[in-house]
Amino acid sequence: MTVPYTSNVAIVAHRGASGWAPEHTVASYDLALSLRADFIEQDLQRTKDSVLVILHDETLDRTLRGYGCQGKVADHTLAQLKACDAGTWFNEKSPEKAKLAYERERVLTLDDLLDRYRDTVRYYIETKNPEDAPGMERQLLEALDRHGLREAAHGGRVLLQSFSAPSLRLMRGMDRGLQLVQLMERLPAGEDPGVVLDSVARYAQAVGPNRLDVTASFIAMAHARCLIVHPYTVNLEGEMRQLARDGIDGMFTDYPDRLRKVLQALGPTKPALPAGCARR
Ligand code: G3P
Ligand code: CA
Repeated sequence: MTVPYTSNVAIVAHRGASGWAPEHTVASYDLALSLRADFIEQDLQRTKDSVLVILHDETLDRTLRGYGCQGKVADHTLAQLKACDAGTWFNEKSPEKAKLAYERERVLTLDDLLDRYRDTVRYYIETKNPEDAPGMERQLLEALDRHGLREAAHGGRVLLQSFSAPSLRLMRGMDRGLQLVQLMERLPAGEDPGVVLDSVARYAQAVGPNRLDVTASFIAMAHARCLIVHPYTVNLEGEMRQLARDGIDGMFTDYPDRLRKVLQALGPTKPALPAGCARR
């Protein structure tokens, strides 16, 4: 069973503890959990043979190494992806954090991940570029069912996120009990966030704005619409502290240990939504 949050601010380990270990690998997720993150985050892509895998980029080029490990995820089978090394890029990029063992990391399928952690952790799963993988949402829900996690999704132990409003609406149409998070690109200058938040509040329970758009006023506007706020990606202690003081509900971070330390030093922060917000 998952442990309760230790704070009103949820610690979302962005691609795992990806500041310390290669993103979206077992090493990164195990480390995030040992650092007591509340959620581990996943980005979904789909292979040529229609398997959901956990990778941020549409291509293999940045995070995979090996013969043929280049080009689009959608042009590779799962077997081809599994032959690639998912850790060497990190060792090359961050030699001071490098570990030989990272060279043995492999791409995870969504099933691999759910098999490994079952119902013992909280997941925060993103449909990435779902317009290029029609049916991805159905496959995601089927995977949750295969692993007995549908109830967990209703209870907020699995959050589903996307930049794509149609993808979130599609999932809501399949199951109104899902807890959905609308990710937001940078707000255009002069845009009234209230208009966007009004729209999102019709189908989602939370927003994931860019950290640069989040102020105390933005948080208050979201809360007034019963929307939780989880900005991405907050890695600096000063920003973490300010957001917590402003009443944030959680944050995506590459350094869950850093955020936990800040929250422990701050002590209890304001509770999240107004009491009048019924679960929608
Ligand atoms: O999902 C929250 C955050 O991860 C969004 O940005 O590009 O890292 O998926 P990205
Ligand atoms: Ca993401």
